[in-house]
Amino acid sequence: MSEKSKILIIGGTGYIGKFIVAASAKSGHPTFALVRESTVSEKFEIIESFKSSGVTLVYGDLYDHESLVKAIKQVDVVISTVGHAQLPDQVKIIAAIKEAGNVKV
Ligand SMILES: NC(=O)c1ccc[n+]([C@@H]2O[C@H](COP(=O)([O-])OP(=O)(O)OC[C@H]3O[C@@H](n4cnc5c(N)ncnc54)[C@H](OP(=O)(O)O)[C@@H]3O)[C@@H](O)[C@H]2O)c1
Repeated sequence: MSEKSKILIIGGTGYIGKFIVAASAKSGHPTFALVRESTVSEKFEIIESFKSSGVTLVYGDLYDHESLVKAIKQVDVVISTVGHAQLPDQVKIIAAIKEAGNVKV
């Protein structure tokens, strides 16, 4: 049987994203959540639930290109659940995926 895909969720600390992170981890996918450092103390309970589900926290920001590339290089699949205001800026994720080179767009 093939290995399960490694999944990165960007926006995993959000209302929708936390369900996706939980479902990914529950289904046995190695799960990574891109988390803004400034959010860690603010959303302590969500972060703790990620840790106890075996989710790997990767610190970064949609507006920090290098952090996106570094996070994306660790995974096979990228899921974005960023907020409404960030929707147009998801092009930054596509740019990082192209640079990382390991994920199909
Ligand atoms: N909620 C709903 O009922 C609903 C219904 C239909 C569609 N949607 C759509 O679903 C998407 C997600 O909605 P939501 O309600 O889950 O949004 P949300 O609760 O506001 O969550 C937004 C997520 O994006 C992250 N984020 C914001 N700026 C970021 C940045 N610069 N870098 C990295 N991450 C950043 C937030 O991180 P922080 O925790 O660090 O802020 C958070 O994890 C939106 O496009 C929305 O339009 C939502």
